Amino acid sequence: MKFFIDTANVEEINKAVALGVADGVTTNPTLLAREAGKAEDIYRAICAAVEGPVCAEVVSMERDGIVREARELAKIGKNICIKIPASKEGLMAVKILEGEGIRTVVTLIFSPMQALLAAKAGASFICPFVGRLDDTGQDGMEMVEQILQIYENYGFKTEVIVASIRHTLHVRDAALMGAHIATIPLKVIEQLIKHPLTDTGIQLFLKDWESVEKR
Ligand code: E4P
Repeated sequence: MKFFIDTANVEEINKAVALGVADGVTTNPTLLAREAGKAEDIYRAICAAVEGPVCAEVVSMERDGIVREARELAKIGKNICIKIPASKEGLMAVKILEGEGIRTVVTLIFSPMQALLAAKAGASFICPFVGRLDDTGQDGMEMVEQILQIYENYGFKTEVIVASIRHTLHVRDAALMGAHIATIPLKVIEQLIKHPLTDTGIQLFLKDWESVEKR
């Protein structure tokens, strides 16, 4: 299972790289708005920090505009993948861009049917947003389970990036379901390593070590 880090903050990305868990990065306009500097400079810095895919989102909404914007973004770095919202125009753009060898990520996926259409359009990745779906009273992880089943039924190569992750249980369930990738905020990545019994265990071992005879 791959971990992407869900941020446009290079310091956070460097921390995830140091932990050995940054197989890629997802950004979006909201995450970019939290950072200082031009979008292009931020993307360049992120591309220099990680080897894996760096997902940069288009803001054009019509096919030709999306394609133009995507081609420009793709010039920034060879690991740039183009995030495109799930829409009719977006799917048409996905087909064109994938045909040119530009990898796409269909984002803002909230149903298995959107995921099926994205795969049929040839998307390299999709981002189902589990936390935002949970917020509406629906089950985000159930959507992911159904998408994975549909992809397996037909042998689609599109990789599922579980997105909008809010807590460690989303990561556990994504792993149990065999999702290809989870894109995770640094805070949740750090929570994955924590367990109170580990902390008390360390304290006890350190205390007992004081009573051990040393030479
Ligand atoms: C995915 O690529 C998105 O950037 C992200 O996971 C959205 O998460 P949010 O619902 O916490 O904004």
